[in-house]
Formats: sequence, structure tokens, C-alpha cells
Amino acid sequence: MAKLIITGNPGVGKHTIAKFISEKYNRTTLIDINRIAIENDAILRNSNDEYGIEVDVKKLIKLMTQELKSQKDVIIVGHLAPYVLKSNGFDLVVVLRRSPYELIKIFTARKYSPEKSRENVASEILGITLYDAVKTFGKDIVAEFDTTGKSVQYVTNKILSSVKKTKRKVGSIDWLSLLYENGDIQKFLE
Ligand SMILES: Nc1ncnc2c1ncn2[C@@H]1O[C@H](COP(=O)(O)OP(=O)(O)OP(=O)(O)O)[C@@H](O)[C@H]1O
Ligand SMILES: [Mg+2]
Repeated sequence: MAKLIITGNPGVGKHTIAKFISEKYNRTTLIDINRIAIENDAILRNSNDEYGIEVDVKKLIKLMTQELKSQKDVIIVGHLAPYVLKSNGFDLVVVLRRSPYELIKIFTARKYSPEKSRENVASEILGITLYDAVKTFGKDIVAEFDTTGKSVQYVTNKILSSVKKTKRKVGSIDWLSLLYENGDIQKFLE
């Protein structure tokens, strides 16, 4: 294995994929950024309001640096990855993507409020985490994968074959065009 980051907006499938890979390749340690933040009290406001938890970014950067010392085969998972990890030393930064139509269903099942759901769907439509991942880690090691309608095994195979590649492409997943073609822009981004 290698040093992998799995990130993406809420609900795209990060933890499901990360757990699957770490169990299948059982020498791989799984580090969950949210868990590190909670266990070490790097939380600023643990409220149930629309914005969920807010983390102490400075503290979390230090904790993650400590956590990653001398780790060789590791998967780091979390939507905060672009904001709390230093850019060097990783083999691949996986940004998972999922269609807004599917995300809405996931957020409804999670009983997110309409505001929280809208905010998170908009973030995925605009590709915020992808943009921030490229900004932090550089486009050469960032790759995006669509989980929409795909099995966990299928996405895992795609990710693992990308670890060995040297050239990667981002920017081919375009939810805005899909929504535009379907006449759904207003419905999602009003
Ligand atoms: N190919 C797939 N890869 C990953 N998850 C999938 C896939 N297909 C369906 N799912 C489902 O998507 C749902 C959301 O996945 P998960 O909870 O792992 O997302 P997440 O990105 O970790 O969300 P959060 O950021 O809120 O923690 C789960 O119910 C999972 O089973
Ligand atoms: Mg999760």
C-alpha cells in the first residue's frame, strides 16, 4: 500500500471506502480526522446547529503531524483533509464525488435539515473539496472518483490502480453541466 488521503464533501462515501480498503489490506492503518479531533478535544463548538462541529484547525494540524510520524502504510480519511494536513509525503489524494441527486437522498435518510442539506449539496456541485485539495496538495497527486451508483469494490479497484499512476486528471466530473442539461440548476442552487 502507500500513504493515501480519502476526502470529499459529506456523504460521498469516504468512510465506507476507507474502512473497506483498510480491512481488505490489513496492514493499512486507518486514521479518521474527525475521531482525532473529538478524542483530543480539538473541537471549538460541538453543537447540533446547522453547521455541525467546528474544529480547532491549528490544534488539529499539530495532532495530525504527530499522528502521521513514522506511518508508512496509512489511509487518512476526512472532509477536513485539505485544511489540516501538510502537503508533502502522500502518494495519492482521493477526492470522492457523488451526484447531487444521490446526495439529497443520503441527507434525507440522515435527517439533515433542509438548510444543512442544501449547503452540503451546493458544496459538492461547486466541487469545493476538490478545489481545496488541489490547492493544498497540488494537482499531480489529486484524483477524483465518482461513487454514484458504483459498488464499493469497483471504486476501490479504481483507487488502487490510480496509486501506481503518475499522471492524474481532475475536473472531469461536472455536476453543474448535468443540472443545467436537466433544467435543475434552480432547484439545487436557489
Ligand atoms: N460506492 C460506494 N462507495 C462508498 N459509499 C457508498 C457507495 N455506494 C453506496 N454508498 C453508501 O453511501 C453512504 C454514505 O457513505 P459514508 O457515510 O461513507 O460517507 P462519508 O463521505 O463518510 O460521509 P461524512 O462526510 O458525512 O462522514 C453510505 O450509506 C454508503 O453505504
Ligand atoms: Mg463519514
